[in-house]
Amino acid sequence: MVKRYIPVSRVEGTASRQAHCDLPAGTYEREMSKEGFFGPAAFFHHRHPPTAWVEFTGPLQPRAFDLDLSSAGAASPWSAHEVLANAHCRIRYWRLAGDMPRLARNADGDELLFIHAGAGELFCDFGRLAVQAGDYVVLPRGTMWRIETAAPFDVLMIEATNSSYQLPEKGLVGNHAIFDPAVLDTPRIDAAFLAQQSDDVPWQVEVKRRNATSLITYPFNPLDAIGWHGELSAVRLNVRDLRPLMSHRYHLPPSAHTTFLANRFVVCTFAPRPFETDPGALKVPFFHNNDDYDEVIFYHAGDFFSRDNIHPGMMSFHPAGFTHGPHPKALTRMFQQTKPATDEYAVMIDTRDALEPGAGAAAVEWAGYVDSWKGQP
Ligand SMILES: [Fe+2]
Repeated sequence: MVKRYIPVSRVEGTASRQAHCDLPAGTYEREMSKEGFFGPAAFFHHRHPPTAWVEFTGPLQPRAFDLDLSSAGAASPWSAHEVLANAHCRIRYWRLAGDMPRLARNADGDELLFIHAGAGELFCDFGRLAVQAGDYVVLPRGTMWRIETAAPFDVLMIEATNSSYQLPEKGLVGNHAIFDPAVLDTPRIDAAFLAQQSDDVPWQVEVKRRNATSLITYPFNPLDAIGWHGELSAVRLNVRDLRPLMSHRYHLPPSAHTTFLANRFVVCTFAPRPFETDPGALKVPFFHNNDDYDEVIFYHAGDFFSRDNIHPGMMSFHPAGFTHGPHPKALTRMFQQTKPATDEYAVMIDTRDALEPGAGAAAVEWAGYVDSWKGQP
C-alpha cells in the first residue's frame, strides 16, 4: 500500500511566508520536520530562544567529546577508541603514531577514514595512495590496507556496518556540483606499490568481523596484486576539493552538504562558504530538534561560526529530540555576521537510529556540555 504524509499546508497567526527568512520581529525560528530536512516541516516563530532553559535534566543529554585528549598509540585500527555506535554505524577515533605493523581488513562493512591530521601512504589491495589531512578515504568492505606514516595520524573512522558508501543524487544542480566525480582519486599500482611486495617477509592481517578480530598470517606480503580491473575501488576525496552549495537569500539546510550516504546514516561536510547577504535571510542555523536523526559533528579546522568553546578535534553529539541551534553568543549574529564567510571544515554524521556512547567516550567527555546552551543571547 502506498503511504503519504497527511496533507497540511497552513499559515497560522503571525508568520513568515518562507522558511528561514523575514521572521516576525523579535522572534526565533524553530523547525520541526520529518525525514531530516526532506519531509513535511513546520516553522514556529517563538518569542524566546528555544534553548533558553534554566535547567535540563534526564537522559536526553547532548554530549561533547574532546578527542584530542584520547590516548595515542594504537597500531591497529580495531583498537581505536569507540566513541559512538549503533547497529548501522560505528564511529571511532584512531591515533596512529607510526607505521602499521599489520594489515587491516574490515569484514563488517565499508570503512570511511577521515584524516584529521597526519600524512603518509596508504597501501591496499588496489595499490598505493598518498593521504593527508582533510582526506576522506572510502575503503570497500574486505579491502586489505595499511598506512605508512610520514607524520602521526589522527583519524575519524566511520564504519557503514553491513552496508556500502554511495553518493547522493545531485538532483537539480547536476552530477558535477559540490565536487566533480573526476576529483575522486584511486590507488595506483606503481613502482612504490610493487617495491613493498615481498615473497619471504611474513605479514599478518587483522580481520574484523562481528566486531571481533581474527589474525591471518602469511609467509609473504598479501598486497601482491600486479594489477586489477573493475568498477569498485578505494577512493579519496579531499575536503578542499568541495565547492559547497549556498544561496545568498536562503540558509540551506545541512542536507545540501551531503557527501556520502550509507544505510540509515549520512555523512555531510561543512566547508567554507560566504554568509547569506539578503537582509531578511537567516545567517545562522535555525533551531531544530533533529526529529528523526541523531546528529554528530566532528570539527576539523577553522572557527565554528555557530558554536562557542569548540576547537578542532572535538565532537558534539545531539540526540534526536534535543532542541538546538546557534549557541547563545552566535545568536547575536542571527541577521548580521561580522565576517563575509565561514572558514570552518566539519564532518557531520546523521544517523536514523539512536547512537550509544562507546568505551572510548567517557574519558574524553566534556561534562556539563548541556549547560553551554542555556541562557539568552
Ligand atoms: Fe542539528
